[in-house]
Amino acid sequence: MAKEIVLTGITTSGTPHLGNYVGAVRPAIEASLDENNESYFFLADYHALIKCQDPERVKSSRKEIAATWLACGLDPEKVCFYRQSDISEIAELNWLLTCVTAKGLMNRAHAYKGAVDVNVNAEQDADLGITMGLFCYPVLMSADILAFNANKVPVGRDQIQHIEMARDIAGRLNHLYGQQLVLPEAVVDDSETALLKGLDGRKMSKSYNNTIPLFESEKKLKKAINKIKTNLLEPGEAKDPNDSTVFDIYRAFATVEQTAEMHQKFLDGIAWGEAKKELFNLVNEELGEAREKYNALMDAPNDVEEILQAGAAKARSRAQSIVTPLRESMGLVKFS
Ligand code: TRP
Repeated sequence: MAKEIVLTGITTSGTPHLGNYVGAVRPAIEASLDENNESYFFLADYHALIKCQDPERVKSSRKEIAATWLACGLDPEKVCFYRQSDISEIAELNWLLTCVTAKGLMNRAHAYKGAVDVNVNAEQDADLGITMGLFCYPVLMSADILAFNANKVPVGRDQIQHIEMARDIAGRLNHLYGQQLVLPEAVVDDSETALLKGLDGRKMSKSYNNTIPLFESEKKLKKAINKIKTNLLEPGEAKDPNDSTVFDIYRAFATVEQTAEMHQKFLDGIAWGEAKKELFNLVNEELGEAREKYNALMDAPNDVEEILQAGAAKARSRAQSIVTPLRESMGLVKFS
């Protein structure tokens, strides 16, 4: 049976936090070990330029994210791991797709509509601060996916619309030029632990400023865990595990047995300080080794660069095999 092409991009804005690890890094690396999959993971650094116009931030974030994935066990022999901006075929396909994409389709994209709504509500010009990069974001994302004929695209819920747009665009191109672009499918992990809560109990997210760092020092990890919001129940008073961020995060790192034990301790009235200590020990145990690898990789940028260059060579050869015939079908051929 032909392997399924599983492809996903990681926008390189910001520093990875515990929520990224539990929701994206860990499950993607696990899935990449499945022999039925051929995986393509990439740093979406062209996408990062849409949100971030600080070159230093762009530079450091892509390095941190590359080191994070490698430290967490991504095997570059098994997974094709590359930077989007190293694959010129993606930029090329982006234009070919742009020329068959209806503007009306882009008008409906949530990210763009959200930005317009913010402006309108503030009684500003609807287009204020909106670049063509933001408006055309779904076309670039389609190029990322279609350049590899990906079958499955693991993403967060908020990205489903973009995958549907990639299908629309691919369908349009197939219709016009008789091409064979594969229509991709979104894969969304709806499991209980996929969405980690942050310090304040809302979804852990950089935009809520409620994150727990992934690879900062043990001390900072402990400090962050101590800041998780709890209620005022005293030691000895029963606590509700179903309404506790401490318990939720614990469960995301624990075995079934450990989870059951902690559940009982909550009912028995474990002190918040004690529960947090156990949470810290559990998380720190899972991350300790990876943290060391991460620090070593951050100190050896040339090694990371070499891995990404090798990934880019592999990725480009696949993308070329898809983009070259496509160009030709559109009339971009040598004169003869
Ligand atoms: N837009 C995605 C996000 O913000 C990242 C991304 C860029 C991506 N290109 C992609 C994800 C292609 C999957 C496939 O999460």
